[in-house]
Order: sequence, then C-alpha cells, then structure tokens
Amino acid sequence: MTRKILVLPGDGIGPEITAQASRILAACQTQGLDVEIEEGLVGGAAYDEHGEPLPAVTLEKAKAADAILLGAVGGPKWDKLEDLTKRPEKGLLGLRKNLGLFANLRPAITYPQLASASSLKPELVAGLDIMIVRELTGGIYFGQPRGIEVRDGQRVGFNTYVYSESEIERIGRVAFELAQKRGKRLCSVDKANVLEVTILWREVMERLAPEYPDVELSHMYVDNAAMQLVRAPKQFDVMVTGNMFGDILSDAAAMLTGSIGMLPSASLNQSGQGMYEPCHGSAPDIAGRGIANPLATILSVAMMLRYSLSEFELAQRIEDAVGKVLDDGLRTADIASEGMRTVSTSEMGDAVLAAFEAA
Ligand code: IPM
Ligand code: MG
Repeated sequence: MTRKILVLPGDGIGPEITAQASRILAACQTQGLDVEIEEGLVGGAAYDEHGEPLPAVTLEKAKAADAILLGAVGGPKWDKLEDLTKRPEKGLLGLRKNLGLFANLRPAITYPQLASASSLKPELVAGLDIMIVRELTGGIYFGQPRGIEVRDGQRVGFNTYVYSESEIERIGRVAFELAQKRGKRLCSVDKANVLEVTILWREVMERLAPEYPDVELSHMYVDNAAMQLVRAPKQFDVMVTGNMFGDILSDAAAMLTGSIGMLPSASLNQSGQGMYEPCHGSAPDIAGRGIANPLATILSVAMMLRYSLSEFELAQRIEDAVGKVLDDGLRTADIASEGMRTVSTSEMGDAVLAAFEAA
C-alpha cells in the first residue's frame, strides 16, 4: 500500500533543511520505499499566503498523511503579530493538537565523533544516549483559561497548568514501554514539591510502575533535572515529563550532543501517525545562507521510517550514512572543529546521500 508523506518546510532555515531531507526520502523511494510525497504550507509561510498559520488545506493534508516531515516555523517577520492565534508557532501547536500527537520523543545521542563539539567535557558526554519523552498536547501550553486581561486597573497574564489522569497515564505508558526496550530506567520529572498538577503526575507514574516490573522508576524535580543534565547526563536513560518542562530540558540535552542541529524528534499519536521534525527552530539569523545543519532533519526522516513506516533497514542506513559523513570529517558550521572540513547545508546533504547510496 502506498503511504502518504506530507512535507511542511515552514520558515527560516526550514526550506533549506527539508530540501536535503527530501533528497534522502527520494533516494529511499528508488530503494523501494512506496510513498507518495506532497508539500504544504505551515507557519509564517502559510500566514503570508492564506492569512492563517495552519490553513484548512494543510490540516486536511496532514490528517490524510501517514507521516509528516516538518522543518521549522517562526521568525522576526511575524513576531509583531498582535493576534497570538496568527503566530507561526500556532501552526505547529495546531498540528500537534489536531492530530493528537501527544507523545514527543526527543533522543539526545552524542555521536562519538562530536563529543568534543559539546560545551561539556567530552568524557561527560561521550556515549550519551538519552530519550526524552515529552507530553505534547496538554499541560500549560494548552490549558484553559489563558489570556491577558485587565484586573484592578492593570494587565494580568495567566495560563493554566493542567493534566488529567488519563493524559498522564498515556504518556507514562509510552515512556515505560520505551524504557523496557532500552536501558530499563525511567526518570519522571516534575515539580511535585510545589505544583498539585505534578503531584498527580507523580502518583500516576507510581501507579503504573508495578505493570512494568523490569523498569526502575525514579522521580526528580525539574530544577534538579536541569542541573543533573549538565552535571552527569549519562545517569539518564529515559526521561518523561510534561510539555513545558520537556521543551526546556530537551534544549539543554541537545547541547550535550554537540549541537541542537543534531537532534531529531518524533511526535506520535495513538494510531502511530507521526510528525517528524528537528528540535531546533527556524534560526532566522542564519536562514538563506546555506550554512544550517540538515542532519537533525535527515535523522528525523530516519525516525519516520522507524516509527510510522516500519522501514527499519532504511532507517538504519540513513543513521549509518550520517555516522559515515561525520567519520569522514564533514561538519556544518554549528559543529565545526579544527582539522575538520566545514561544509554547507547542501554539501552535507550531498555527502549523506552519497554515503546512503554507497551502503
Ligand atoms: C519545540 C519548539 C516549540 C515548542 C515552539 C516553536 C512552539 O520550541 O518544538 O520545542 O515550544 O514546543
Ligand atoms: Mg523547544
């Protein structure tokens, strides 16, 4: 059966990096991957064309797709939009919410070749392999009520941090199951010393634990988790946390790997449909210069093949190809180091493609 992939380049460096990832996808097609690929608009690019960051036509295409590859959204051009619902970020959040993509997997893996590119000492990060499981369709990002209003003569801004037991349970199960397939250790991150919502979070994780007797569950407050990530990151295997804490911790974890330009992600719903995107943003400061690192997006294609299309061999080949070009000393500017060859976005794409085809 032909499966459908929707590519949403988005804004900033999004089009540059998805162009390279699309070349790899096309190479997979010539290797027998039976997919139909469509493109669509999201974020600022969609706003400029349709006046909406998530036009109905894009949402329809997204719903019909087996998997979505997204570049990045946002940029200074749209930062001044007063109406928050028109912001590019709303396009991304709308896709996550409308497709029910509640499980966000962000693997932070330090390639041995890049251990010295990390801001941490190489021995702290060499061999690092953490999976951050971030709840993606709830928590403070979506809680109601929210807004800015005048109270007693001054403006007040407010958001609501809310999780139901069922929301916590379903993300907890994803995390426990992943831990079972990996190092069998799960650290749940909360702020249960202050926030009721995370007291419930902790209780639900505890309630699930006996169903996964082979997994060792621990709990950590988010402030300590941030510190531990930069102190001794290899203590972690799988981490599970809510939407906002996961957003923050995954950026911190990204730097352990050498560059945020290396981190792919998968956002899955209950039926295995997924959206795949690099964890970095649209990087407007370097957009259009051909220097962005396409590897996170290329690695996101590998995650797509693994998690939504069950094409494990092709996924492995892409990951191996990335390892090969790093072995060969090719580096984009963000991971540049002495003695290595600094290459452009498209040269990196060329090299991965060549390594993939040679394998
Ligand atoms: C991410 C991003 C998004 C988020 C933004 C662009 C809305 O930072 O995917 O981590 O906060 O979830
Ligand atoms: Mg983020």
